[in-house]
Amino acid sequence: MNAYATHVPVLEAVLEVVKPSSVVEFGSGTYSTEIFAKQCARLVTVEQQEKVWFDTVCKRYAGIETVEPLWLPGMAAVEWFASNDEIFDVVFVDGETISRRPLVLEGMKKSGIVIAHDTEHGVYNLSNLPVLAGWGEYVYRAHSPWTTVWSASSEVLAAVVGKLEE
Ligand SMILES: C[S@@+](CC[C@H](N)C(=O)[O-])C[C@H]1O[C@@H](n2cnc3c(N)ncnc32)[C@H](O)[C@@H]1O
Repeated sequence: MNAYATHVPVLEAVLEVVKPSSVVEFGSGTYSTEIFAKQCARLVTVEQQEKVWFDTVCKRYAGIETVEPLWLPGMAAVEWFASNDEIFDVVFVDGETISRRPLVLEGMKKSGIVIAHDTEHGVYNLSNLPVLAGWGEYVYRAHSPWTTVWSASSEVLAAVVGKLEE
């Protein structure tokens, strides 16, 4: 499988189980962004790394009111997320390296389900997270780089795992 797309089975399983209306993703691209844009009533897609790519994403979704691209370079995305009171059905983290850990932790305050890509790579510092009481974690290792799902609902997590392992 294409290393840039190993999170796709996880996103599809979560979409099938959760049927989210609102999603925020960090790291705009062609895989997750297209999937969420097609299936969700509201997608906030935050680009943190490449302004030229952000402009391309804006053109791609111009006139599509359900997709809101934001340009928040690096840690500006964390500041924005921490100061935003909105709750999202799903948070997906796949953007700038240093910001990934704080975005995942902030995501657990803003959603009941958080997904992050590339989680076996130490550079992203996503192991040993102080996961909140009641939350569960599942690491999808069928394709590398791995993708991790954290959920506040054991039923949701079990259903997602069931889809991925069926
Ligand atoms: C891991 S990628 C994000 C991938 C995205 N979440 C997806 O699933 O398609 C991280 C960064 O790579 C850059 N990127 C992703 N796709 C790109 C493309 N097709 N062209 C140029 N840059 C891209 C963007 O800066 C993006 O934030």
